[in-house]
Formats: sequence, structure tokens, C-alpha cells
Amino acid sequence: MSEAKDAVTKQPLARDARASGVTAGVRPLGVMAALPEELGDLVAAMGAEGEVRTVAHGQRDYHIGTVHGTPCVVTLARIGKVAAAATVSALIHAFDVEAVVFTGVAGGVGRDVRIGDIVVAHSLVQHDLDASPLFPRFEVPLLGIARFDADAALAAQLAAACDDFIAQEGGALAERFRTAQPRVHRGLVISGDQFIASAAAVNALRAALPDALAVEMEGAAIAQVCYEYGVPCAIVRTVSDTADVHAPASFSTFLVEIAGTYSSGILRRFLQARG
Ligand code: ADE
Repeated sequence: MSEAKDAVTKQPLARDARASGVTAGVRPLGVMAALPEELGDLVAAMGAEGEVRTVAHGQRDYHIGTVHGTPCVVTLARIGKVAAAATVSALIHAFDVEAVVFTGVAGGVGRDVRIGDIVVAHSLVQHDLDASPLFPRFEVPLLGIARFDADAALAAQLAAACDDFIAQEGGALAERFRTAQPRVHRGLVISGDQFIASAAAVNALRAALPDALAVEMEGAAIAQVCYEYGVPCAIVRTVSDTADVHAPASFSTFLVEIAGTYSSGILRRFLQARG
């Protein structure tokens, strides 16, 4: 998009977003990903369905409209825990979202988690948080929590959308992308400010957190912020790599060629069921 068009379509955030009618009426759902490829066709689908208002705030664009029948604010966090925490905080405070859903890719950590599988988080841990011996490893100091639960109802709705997606499109996905028949896992997702790309690193995570299914760089930060503000959240991840030496190449290919197909298919079913 040209700079001139940007200037026309983007609006600065009103001082009081709630009073300005950004979220007049029903409170929207916040939908986030780190990178554009991980959002799939969501912003385009919003545009096809009706008016999209794009608000620039904190060096991010927030797209406000209705997608698949559900009022949403859609945005990109960029990569890492700080970026994710800052973005979800803005969704909560400036856009008054009633809940947050994050979609994207992850490295597989669980022994039976394969490339092309989907992981829906039941709980999340910051695997690189270690203030020991002052506090137990992984525990957020002074909050007293290491594992943050996803909202059970929201995670169940997201998992149901994933189950439908795989039941209807799993065979075609496996054929098209030359993966095994995809499966949906539910459990622990771990997050840290590191791209995990060696057998030694992924084995160390397995040893420290044996029930971890997938590793990524944002989810547990979002879960912590949502916990602190009492906002329900759920996180879904498609497995782009197995966090080993092949991870950089596998991640890059998966991100460009496959991630959007998964996010679009999962979010359409999830949002239609809510809308
Ligand atoms: N996201 C996708 N693959 C990842 C990996 N191997 N490590 C961290 N985050 C990821």
C-alpha cells in the first residue's frame, strides 16, 4: 500500500476509544497473529463483508469491522513476548475487546507432534523465565504463577473449529503440502524470546517441561496479560517445524506456503460459530 493511501485510510486513535464509538454496541473479539502470513485471509474477509476502519496505534494497525459475522479488531503483534504483551494490552485498553484469540505457527516439541498438526493451548508457560533461586523457575515473580490457563470455553470452541477443519480438509492438506494426515492436540504451549533450532535446545525444553507440545514466541505473554486483566484468551498454533536443525528452512517454507491456509480455515469456522 502506498504511503498516500495509508494516510487516507488510517486514523489516529481517539483519546478515548470507547467514547469515540470504536467499540460502540457489542464488544469485539481481538484477533492477533505475529506475522501477516499467520493471519490468512482475515483482513480481506473483513473488507469483503463490510466497512473496515484501520486505526494506527503504537506502531501497529488495528482493523475494526465484522468477519464471518463476528465483530472483531484484527492486528499483528510482530515477534516476541514484549511485542505480544504490548499489542494485547492495547487491544484490551484502547479497543475494549471482550476476549482475545491468537493464531500462528509453532515448533513441535511433543514426541508425537508432527509438521502440519495443530496445537490448541490449554495452558502456557514462559520457558525462558528464570528468576531462581529467588523464585521457582518459570514462575512470574510476585504473581506466583508459572502456568497460565487459556479460557476453557474459548479453547474448546477453537479446538472444535480445528477438528472441523481437519475433518473436512485434512486429507487435501496432507496431499497438497505433502505432510502426514494432520491431527489436533490440546495441552501445554511454551513461549520464549528464542527461535528453537537445534536438537540440544529442543531436548532441553523437553527435559524441563515434559508435557510441552509446542514452542513459540508470544502465547504465554498474551496469556499473562489476559490473566492480569481478567480477559479470556485462547491460542492456536499450526506446527511449522520440529524445533531442530531443520527448523529455519521448514518454518520459512511453511509460513509462506501453508500457514495462511490453516489460519483462514480455522478462523472462518471459529468465527462463524460465534457470529
Ligand atoms: N515458531 C515456529 N517455530 C518455532 C521455533 N522452532 N521456535 C520458536 N518459535 C517458533
